[in-house]
Amino acid sequence: MAVPLFATSLDRYLPLLTERLAEVVAGGRYILGPEVDVFEREFADYLGVKHCIGVGNGTDAITIALRALGVRPGDEVICPSFTFYATVEATVSAGATPVYCDVDPRTFCVTPETVKAAITPRTKAIVPVHLFGNVAPMEELRALGLPLLEDAAQATGARLNGTRAGALGDAATFSFFPSKNLPCLGDGGAVVTDDDDVAQAARRLRFHGSEDKKTFVDVGYNSRLDELQAAVLRVLLPELDGWNAARREAAAAYEREGLGEFVELPTPVDGAEHVHHLYVVRHERADELAAALGQSQIGARGYYRVPIHRQPATARFAPADIELPGTDEAARKHLALPMGPELSEDDVREVVAACASGST
Ligand SMILES: Cc1ncc(COP(=O)(O)O)c(C=O)c1O
Repeated sequence: MAVPLFATSLDRYLPLLTERLAEVVAGGRYILGPEVDVFEREFADYLGVKHCIGVGNGTDAITIALRALGVRPGDEVICPSFTFYATVEATVSAGATPVYCDVDPRTFCVTPETVKAAITPRTKAIVPVHLFGNVAPMEELRALGLPLLEDAAQATGARLNGTRAGALGDAATFSFFPSKNLPCLGDGGAVVTDDDDVAQAARRLRFHGSEDKKTFVDVGYNSRLDELQAAVLRVLLPELDGWNAARREAAAAYEREGLGEFVELPTPVDGAEHVHHLYVVRHERADELAAALGQSQIGARGYYRVPIHRQPATARFAPADIELPGTDEAARKHLALPMGPELSEDDVREVVAACASGST
């Protein structure tokens, strides 16, 4: 029995989505209209933050949020190297110099110690990434006294000690790419914050640096969540908590079925309610295991085998003698196994059995 890496399906929502999309098309408002306004309010309320600004995607969201937080060319911004490339790419697009920090190879998140090692007098902000649906240790990071931008692209709906990811930093960014925990039907993203000035700057930057469409005070971006995607997100947001609960139930089933005998299971950060955007285990010979699982038609893949400080475009930001041992370990060992709200007990048993025969 084949088990896909992404056990998700929007099939049962398609009639409602189609109806809502037809209404938006008939209404004739496609950019910055009522759907975006209402979604921004609904998503801010869901997270427990004051402001949400819908933007074109999760990459632009990071660039816009960093600039809104006051990051200027030449400023240093601390980012993990073990993340999706966009975290660092967007930091460079904001004019900043990324400074790579290490991660805990078990949680895949930055720690206060790894961030501290990267701080210099030019550090302007820190971008903790809530990787794979875990939540970085924000309370300890807060004690470092620098502005925090959460990259929450992979952690929509996660919590740390009861507070949603997105409400833990000075600002946060989300992606609604179709594979994310809260998807839209194309590209979409958001910046969220409690700070009125940061929100106003982000709103201006997403619209060419203008508040009134006549006076342009920043060189900004054309990066807006559109009305059709906002309408989709309004249909799907009420489903998010149920989907995340199903993901956590699938993770519990993996544990119950004994997956931990064959691979190292995901490690939530202390206090984190992990939402398993990806279910990422650790194994000494991760790619060999992935190949064996592939033979059994089970989706499995390593996402970030080459960390960002070794990528052709972004290696130049790393000092020649950089050492990120946690990053190297995470890059080598991590392996995503099938996950999603639709993953059944039978699927879980199939994956565990295939890991049992493929991991020896
Ligand atoms: C950690 C992280 N940051 C940023 C992004 C960028 O989001 P988007 O693809 O919407 O630009 C992603 C998306 O894959 C991501 O996983």
